[in-house]
This record gives sequence, structure tokens and C-alpha cells, in this order.
Amino acid sequence: MRSSRTQVGIIGAGPAGLALAQLLQGAGIDSVVLERRSRDYVLARVRAGVIEQGTVDILRRAGVAARLEREGLLHHGVELAAGERRHRIDFAAQSASVTVYGQTELTKDLVDARESSGVPPVFDVEDVVLEELDTERPRVRYRRSGEAHVLDCDFIAGCDGFHGVSRKAIPAAVLKTHERVYPFGWLGVLADAPPVSSELIYLSHERGFALCSMRSATRSRCYLQCELDTNVNDWSDGRFWDELASRLPGELASRVTRARTIEKSVAPLRSFVAEPLRYGRLFLAGDAAHIVPPTGAKGLNLAIRDVDQLAAGLVAHYVERRDGLLDAYSASALRRIWRAERFSAWLTSVLHRYPGQTSFDRGMQLAELDHLVSSAAARAAFVEAYTGL
Ligand code: APR
Ligand code: PHB
Repeated sequence: MRSSRTQVGIIGAGPAGLALAQLLQGAGIDSVVLERRSRDYVLARVRAGVIEQGTVDILRRAGVAARLEREGLLHHGVELAAGERRHRIDFAAQSASVTVYGQTELTKDLVDARESSGVPPVFDVEDVVLEELDTERPRVRYRRSGEAHVLDCDFIAGCDGFHGVSRKAIPAAVLKTHERVYPFGWLGVLADAPPVSSELIYLSHERGFALCSMRSATRSRCYLQCELDTNVNDWSDGRFWDELASRLPGELASRVTRARTIEKSVAPLRSFVAEPLRYGRLFLAGDAAHIVPPTGAKGLNLAIRDVDQLAAGLVAHYVERRDGLLDAYSASALRRIWRAERFSAWLTSVLHRYPGQTSFDRGMQLAELDHLVSSAAARAAFVEAYTGL
């Protein structure tokens, strides 16, 4: 058995865990990041790509925003479309913007930063178990290459995503969860094809929602609302592009480039909140604590804001010997999280086709969209929520 010790044990090398390690290191606090998957797997994962300005600011403080600020695409608006109608929502009136930059690229920047820091994430760990969480000496047991390890910590950050072990380590009598599972998923593709438009297009259609996003001027990221039991093997590239074109307004449909796809996957949609986000010396952050449907592009942004708040609490603990911020973490993060849950669930409900949806339900959706594009106040509220102002 191998024993080691750190100040903060971090479970999970997703954006939350990696960014937390960076922020802590900047304040002279040491941590160890333990990751179940391999380095290659973590670096290859394709995820969302809209980054709020507030998130960019945190990443800059964490020392990982240089490439993002150089290569990311600054967007000053998004388009909402329904049938043949297209409406642009302009962020400029509120001096707001978002940066389009793939989470895959951000993960690479974060892993690079951790590797140059001299404390790289520990990949390929197995059988992670959290113990003694309600004491001042919590610890993590795990196995790696067949060998048993114990990591003694002052604190443990559960950044291990929705399916991780951290949330499950909180006793059932303490943990409350709130969940909505949607009756559809998103079929997403990545392709070396120019985006159909220079801005993102969120589209509500009788055949279902669609989203045209991008990674660069030559790479598209597109999604189609699909059945939950969709098998990607039933979706040839041709079928995907045909279906996307059938949902787009005519002038955009003609701009779909039917390129070979590089990645194709189905993701279910879920809204989920766990509370509290703290149990003794364990703190939850990111997808371990909450899930939003991707419609509002909030998942990554919430995760980075969580760890920024958690890092501030840990810095206050070590540097000022004050625990007020740590004590406030759960309640104050949850307020912010519920607001993002509200926006994400609302936008999802407005844009997607629901099984058994009546013509009245559809009328309500179209009225919501009409309200959004015709009321300056509604647009301002949308921009505030979408850009994270
Ligand atoms: N032990 C160690 N690591 C684990 C364990 C475990 N038992 N279980 C899961 N993990 C790892 C996963 O392999 C993953 O790399 O924890 C990491 C969690 O990363 P993410 O799922 O990316 O979650 P998070 O860092 O909170 O990032 C949230 O990423 O998933 C998107 O939609 C999400 O955009 C949001 C953001
Ligand atoms: C993406 O580019 O992958 C993306 C963009 C906006 C979303 C979700 C995903 O709302």
C-alpha cells in the first residue's frame, strides 16, 4: 500500500477538477487530481463549446486562457429560427459576448498546464473510495496498476461528473436530489465543413429542435433532437445532413455542406440538482453537483464558476484562516445553479418537440419565441442569461 498526502484531493480530471487544481496552485495550495479514465480518453472527449466572458476571466486568472483568447471565436449574437422565420438576438446592446471554443481544446489546455506545473493528473485510477469525510482528515483510497493507494487530504473536491462516486458518498439521509429527465436526446456531429452561418442558430421545427454550432470557420458542430433510443449506426452522414437541412429555413438549408463526420454521438437531456453541495470536508462541483440540458450552453460555465467559488473558499481557509466562504459555498452556489437550471429548462421547453404535444402547446412555444424577438425587455433578459452577464 502506498500512502501520500495533499491539501486538496480532487476527484475527476474534467474541466472542473483541472481548473480547480490550477486555481489552487496559483494560491500556493497543493492538490492531487485523480481520474478514472486514460489521458487519451479525456483529451479526445467531444463536448460543448460556448464560453461566457465571466468564465474566460476565471480561466485567465487560472493561467489557461491564452490559446482560448487567441483562437476562440468571439460571438456578439445568436440566431433563433422557427420554420422559415429567423431572428437574430444581438448581445451588443448589453456589451455582451461569448467565446466559441471547444471544451476538447480547453481540456487540452488544462491538461497541458497541469503537466507543466509538475503535478500532472493521475490518470487510470480504479476503485476510488472516499472515507472519513465528516472528520478533519478525509482520505481517498484507490488502485492504480494493481497497487493500492491512500491519499490523506484536508479537503476533497468531488469533480467527478454525474456518474462519479463523490455525490454517492454523501449519506442518503443528507442528500436531496431534484431531477427532470426529458423524453428526447441530441444527436451531435462534428465535421470539417464550414458552418452554415457565422453565428449559432437554435432552431425550433415541427420535426424537432436543431442547433448549428461550430468550432472554427472550417469546422461545424451540429445537433438534431432525436429519440432517446437512437442508434448512431442508423444515422449515415447523408441522413444526418438531409434531416438537418429539412429543419432549416430554405436559405440556410442550401448552405449545408454534406461532409464526412468526424464524430457522432447521442446524449440524453437532463436537468438535475443535488443539495447540499457539502458534506463535512467533501465539496461537490460541476456535473457531480448538477446537470443542465445543453440547450442553454451552461454546463461548462457553471462548472468553472463552481470551482472558482470553491477555490476562493479554500484560499480563505488556508491564507486567512477564515471558513465563512466555505460555509457559504453550498447555499450561494446553489442559488446561481438554480438560475442556470431555470434558463436551461425554459429554453429546452420552448425549442423542442414533445411527444403528445398539442397544437396549443406548439402555439405557446411560438408565442414565447415571438415575445422574445419582439420585446426588448425579453431580449435583454435572454442576453443576460445566455451570456452570463
Ligand atoms: N474516479 C475518478 N474520476 C472519475 C470517477 C471516479 N470514480 N468517475 C468519473 N470520473 C471522471 C470522469 O472520467 C471525468 O473525466 O471525472 C471527470 C468528470 O468530468 P466531466 O464529466 O467533464 O465534469 P466536469 O468537470 O464537472 O465538467 C462539466 O463538462 O461534461 C461537461 O456538460 C459538462 O460542460 C460540462 C462540464
Ligand atoms: C456546441 O457548440 O457544442 C454547443 C453550442 C451551444 C449549445 C450546446 C452545444 O447550446
